[in-house]
Amino acid sequence: MKDFGYDVADYTDVDPLFGNLATFDRLLADIHARGLRVIVDYVPNHTSDQHAWFTDSRSSRTSPRRDWYVWRDPKPDGSPPNNWISVFGGSAWAWDDASGQFYLHSFLAEQPDLDWRNPEVKAAMFDVLRFWLDRGVDGFRIDVAQFVAKDPLLRDNPPNPHPERMAHMGDWSQQLHLYDHGHPDVHEIYREFRALLDSYPGDRVSIGELHHEQFEVWAGFYGQNLDEIHVPFNFHLLFSPWDATEVRCIVDAVEAALPAGAWPNWVLGNHDQRRLASRIGDGQARVAMLLLLTLRGTPTIYYGDELGLPNAEIRPDQVRDPWGLVEPGQGRDPGRSPMPWDGSPNGAFTTPDVDPWLPLAPGHETTNVALQREDPASLLSMTRRLLDLRRGHPALAEGVHRSMDGTPDGTFCFVRSIDGSEGAPAVLVALNLTGEPRRVELDPGTGRVIEGTHPDRLGVTVDTASVDLRPDEGLVIELTAR
Ligand code: GLC
Repeated sequence: MKDFGYDVADYTDVDPLFGNLATFDRLLADIHARGLRVIVDYVPNHTSDQHAWFTDSRSSRTSPRRDWYVWRDPKPDGSPPNNWISVFGGSAWAWDDASGQFYLHSFLAEQPDLDWRNPEVKAAMFDVLRFWLDRGVDGFRIDVAQFVAKDPLLRDNPPNPHPERMAHMGDWSQQLHLYDHGHPDVHEIYREFRALLDSYPGDRVSIGELHHEQFEVWAGFYGQNLDEIHVPFNFHLLFSPWDATEVRCIVDAVEAALPAGAWPNWVLGNHDQRRLASRIGDGQARVAMLLLLTLRGTPTIYYGDELGLPNAEIRPDQVRDPWGLVEPGQGRDPGRSPMPWDGSPNGAFTTPDVDPWLPLAPGHETTNVALQREDPASLLSMTRRLLDLRRGHPALAEGVHRSMDGTPDGTFCFVRSIDGSEGAPAVLVALNLTGEPRRVELDPGTGRVIEGTHPDRLGVTVDTASVDLRPDEGLVIELTAR
């Protein structure tokens, strides 16, 4: 629990904090009985330093598992083998006094990196996949998927000429990460991974946590023949400024970079970032949800974002995240606060008399599930309606995407339609990413508002020659076939 589960001491068991394998099987069965699926977070790059493999590896230079991890001699001056830095700050190498070598840890020192170039490691880690697939899980989210392939020569990373573009990464932004992850050999690993998944009956999904600024490199993780990761998380919007031009460029670039037949996906929040509503404001959080749920592809919603949950305020003595302890200010705790189910003292996340692991985000008396469920104008209600809509509406479910040119600054408009099918309902999405009114002028035609950030618009007929968007407004307009 140094990194809350991302430091695995046993891949084929359950931490006693949560139960045991019998509890897991029951959970899986109960969830399946409700028509939901279960995806397990798979952490291939590193184990815990408590894992038996590592204890064994560190026990001596001649241990049979020594080369399951990345051990290297110091440089002649005693310094680490290269300049790589840990994502969580400081050198990525830790000194082991007993055996007189450094080991590599791309994250905490308590998270030593496995050496995937060792076939025994790969075999053992593929057995882990089989273990969970045999139990009936529906797939995996692959933690830091790119990290399993590093430069075999362990070359130094060059400095990053634009660290400000990666400022959210703290120390790590100081280098260009050419060598410490994402070596092209990574693709062979995920082709094998996928073949293993596909050898199981039913639908089993792979979701990869990975990012690359270059859209083509990112899209490469689908595999040239769509034979690698089903859902390479698309974090481009998550890391972009909330600006209509940037958003449009990203959407177009992602659509253009996808290999033929690949299915897009979109992410606007996760447990490693600050909260969406705090980042872009309450009004825009609604616009963002409308965008996320009308773009072509699979959306990922981070719990609480459907309520517009803000960052929790964490006092220095409340910091839990190891990253925040190593690099003050980098902690991810503000986005990991308890889900506010209702307005009671601990939001029904836990009983009122105990201290939850992190404080609740401010305002949970009004920002909570119980209240928003009853309010048709709430973000939660809008989110639910949008989810229904995209399931039932062919253009939103499967239609192609076309961004509209010539709309005013601060707006982003696109059409979703079933390609080539005359008369099939098309949908226009018109978004105002600013706090000021905007008028969008498209070709004349009529349409009906079927969803929007402001419920008073529902059902209203509009002329697309002139659509007035209020501040922070987004509309989903079903176009009348001509
Ligand atoms: C991923 C996880 C993050 C974790 C890290 C190390 O980035 O999302 O929460 O700390 O990997 O496993």
